[in-house]
Amino acid sequence: MARTSRIEGFYKLPISERLKVVREFGGLTDDEAMALSGFGGIDPSIPDSMIENAVGSMPVPLGIAANFVINEKEYLVPMAIEEPSVVAAASNAARMALESGGFKTGCDPPVMIGQIQLTGIADPEGARSLILDRSEELLKMANEQDPMLVRVGGGAKGVEARVIDTRSGPQVIVHILVDVRDAMGANAVNTMAEALAPPLEKMTGGRVYLRILSNLAVHRLARASAIWRKEAIGGESVVDGIVEAYSFADADPYRCATHNKGIMNGIDAVMLATGNDTRAIEAGAHAYASISGSYKPLTRYEKTPEGDLQGSIELPMAVGLIGGATKVHPTARASVKLLGVKTAGELAEIAAAVGLAQNFAALRALATEGIQKGHMSLHARNIAISAGCPAEFVDEVVKVMVSERKVRMDRAAEIVEDLKKSRQRT
Ligand code: MEV
Repeated sequence: MARTSRIEGFYKLPISERLKVVREFGGLTDDEAMALSGFGGIDPSIPDSMIENAVGSMPVPLGIAANFVINEKEYLVPMAIEEPSVVAAASNAARMALESGGFKTGCDPPVMIGQIQLTGIADPEGARSLILDRSEELLKMANEQDPMLVRVGGGAKGVEARVIDTRSGPQVIVHILVDVRDAMGANAVNTMAEALAPPLEKMTGGRVYLRILSNLAVHRLARASAIWRKEAIGGESVVDGIVEAYSFADADPYRCATHNKGIMNGIDAVMLATGNDTRAIEAGAHAYASISGSYKPLTRYEKTPEGDLQGSIELPMAVGLIGGATKVHPTARASVKLLGVKTAGELAEIAAAVGLAQNFAALRALATEGIQKGHMSLHARNIAISAGCPAEFVDEVVKVMVSERKVRMDRAAEIVEDLKKSRQRT
């Protein structure tokens, strides 16, 4: 039979049948098929209800970052990430901030933006004024969509209208500002945006195309700051090195992309562990980093009058505790319980603190011994395992490769052979 990805009724098949099809298609061995279909102790019906055509799950390592004291409260922070060194770096950075009391954090109310795009309007400025004049009416209509949200103190709270110049002429963009309480908010906001489209068309004579939430959640920022005492981080030259590293990122988008990537190593890992939408957070973070017109670091550093390092972070944090994977996925549920967070804002603040810690750790390493030393032994472990090194030899192979500074698959295989031979001799 011809190999095809067009599989009639694939989505209707039970998981075991889907897996058979996939296995044949990919020429997978028993072990490979098993690796794809692992559910990591989770009832297969859960992934099957979360996405389409599920055949398994992709277990990502989950580590726990220690030493986090945020607003004087102790946290163990679950982080799901495949990259070595990230969890250790966050824990170390948090430990070094302990002396000065850990992290101070805060956040805005959970207000998201829903956008409604109005096109073909003859008098865009006039339409803009009209929309603003009738905003109470629009808010009432929006809130009729979600009485539950209104009952718990959320709901549509404001209307903005902007005229933008586009390649197809001026457009009027309406923003409905919705307090989504402890949800990420996409469903509530999109429903309201869709409901407002017909009345807005009637009001302005325009034609609505898009009705969708914006991930640039500028009204839902989270902030964290910490002071690292110079003695706790290796002295004043380290403080200076980190301030210089920050200036580099501030002045150069090539460096800034990597600087912000390091921040997102921490934030995404907390987001993934708690079942949040990592792509939404990434999109918001990078758009916010560019909001001035040039791409800037999400963190800032300065030297205090005492010669210590003051670091801070601010970014949009559209996180949820209700709805989506956070409530459905058992690992996410357990992670939220471990954190003991009661509101989406508290989770947003923790993630911001972890992002700052992660960035501090990376800059400290980069401004001193370099990043490779810390990475080396975990990287060497991965290489040894990828080279097929038996578990009993892994520690020894890692030790030799790191001491030789030759962390390569071929070298790992050679060392394994040597170890096997020497075992045979003894
Ligand atoms: C690697 O995942 C992250 C770093 O590159 C971040 C940085 O350079 O600041 C170490």
